[in-house]
Amino acid sequence: MAAAGVLSPSLAQAANFVKKSYGKVKLVDASGAPIKASAVPTDQALVFHYPLASTPAFLINLGESVAGEKVNAEDGKNYDWEGGVGPKKAVVAYSAICSHVYAHPEKNMSMIAYDPKSTATSGQAKCIVCCVHGSVYDATKGAKVLHGPAPHPLASIVLEHDASDDSLYATEMIGSSAIHDMFAAYKMDLIKEYGAANLNKQVTGSVKTIPLSEFSKSVITC
Ligand code: FES
Repeated sequence: MAAAGVLSPSLAQAANFVKKSYGKVKLVDASGAPIKASAVPTDQALVFHYPLASTPAFLINLGESVAGEKVNAEDGKNYDWEGGVGPKKAVVAYSAICSHVYAHPEKNMSMIAYDPKSTATSGQAKCIVCCVHGSVYDATKGAKVLHGPAPHPLASIVLEHDASDDSLYATEMIGSSAIHDMFAAYKMDLIKEYGAANLNKQVTGSVKTIPLSEFSKSVITC
């Protein structure tokens, strides 16, 4: 699991909207080898944790170049989503905490997943779908909400690509983080999953990045 550093009470207690660097963290696989942007699979998301050891995020290869654009967050706040990075400008990352009532990948099961194909719920390809109440986020457009009760997009995790070795780093979170609300709703479950010592710990150095199908025993799609 990730190296975890200094407690960040300001993050866990902050209002949902954030635009801040929480340090440059290298994405590595289960063996500790750097994740290569050109090798990120296109059939499912990978899961890593950023900015905290208990806050999951999705790394997604959309398979095609995606340009950045303006995204509307909650409370009328707007931000510039950077679009894809990597050799094809196709790799993106988002918080995996649903903005509705904060479903997120758990080790036993995930009700939220990226699907490269159109489904009955999403109606279009390349969406992140939360099957708890049917919220659908467009992974090609900054995780904007397409359908369902989600009130705002998933927060974006800003990525940096090192072209010299094709490695990837998480550097920043922008958007409505939902971290405070997830902690309020799931604190005891998160402590069981990650341990109390990891709940508020900021990730530093490197972070393990693995397929959602390995992180969660069961992945629900709809
Ligand atoms: S928690 Fe995701 S749609 Fe309700």
